[in-house]
Amino acid sequence: MLHEVTTAVRIAALAGTVCLAACDTVSVGNTGANTQTLCLTDYQQCIDPILHASINGSLGPLTCSASGCHNSTTGSGGGFKLFADPDPADPTFDQQILANFISAKAFANFNSPPDSKLLLEPLRGVFAISGTHTGGDIFPDTADACYVAIRDWISRRVTARDAPSCGGCTPPDVSTCGN
Ligand code: HEM
Repeated sequence: MLHEVTTAVRIAALAGTVCLAACDTVSVGNTGANTQTLCLTDYQQCIDPILHASINGSLGPLTCSASGCHNSTTGSGGGFKLFADPDPADPTFDQQILANFISAKAFANFNSPPDSKLLLEPLRGVFAISGTHTGGDIFPDTADACYVAIRDWISRRVTARDAPSCGGCTPPDVSTCGN
């Protein structure tokens, strides 16, 4: 009886090995896109200030991280949540910036930056793609200095958010953004 059982197990094991040998090898390694990220330094220097600035949009001067908008505690802005205007003197400043970075990056399309929700939602004239945006049209067109800064940030993929190639972005003059 014991002999029959062990033989059956061996056969099963062998059959399994044969099957496995016949399987195609499927690479489950990183395809590159999912090992890429964006620059944290550039986000802090050039993008985060845009999200706390008062920009004159189609609904008047509004701030992305304002209460009722994308504020992390009082906002109703979907999944895009921000710590409002992090203060460098605050001991949790770095954590707040990192949280804002991760939140903004979640709405970035690495493969096609102009198709990022982070750009489409506040952009005029793309209702057909992203639907209405309660915050209105913040960026009148794709030449807007703040739009360009966000698009260029998303376009620079790096392998680590603190990669040596990070830094060096030119902060946009937010007073020129909007209508
Ligand atoms: C540059 C500034 C802004 C950016 C980049 C931005 C970006 C976004 C993004 C990416 C979404 C989609 C979130 C999701 O799919 O979960 C969104 C939705 C939303 N935003 Fe904004 N937003 C901005 C300004 C504002 C302002 C000023 C307000 C408030 C007056 C606002 C209110 C909302 C609300 C309520 C939603 C969720 C419902 C909807 O889609 O309309 N946003 N925004």
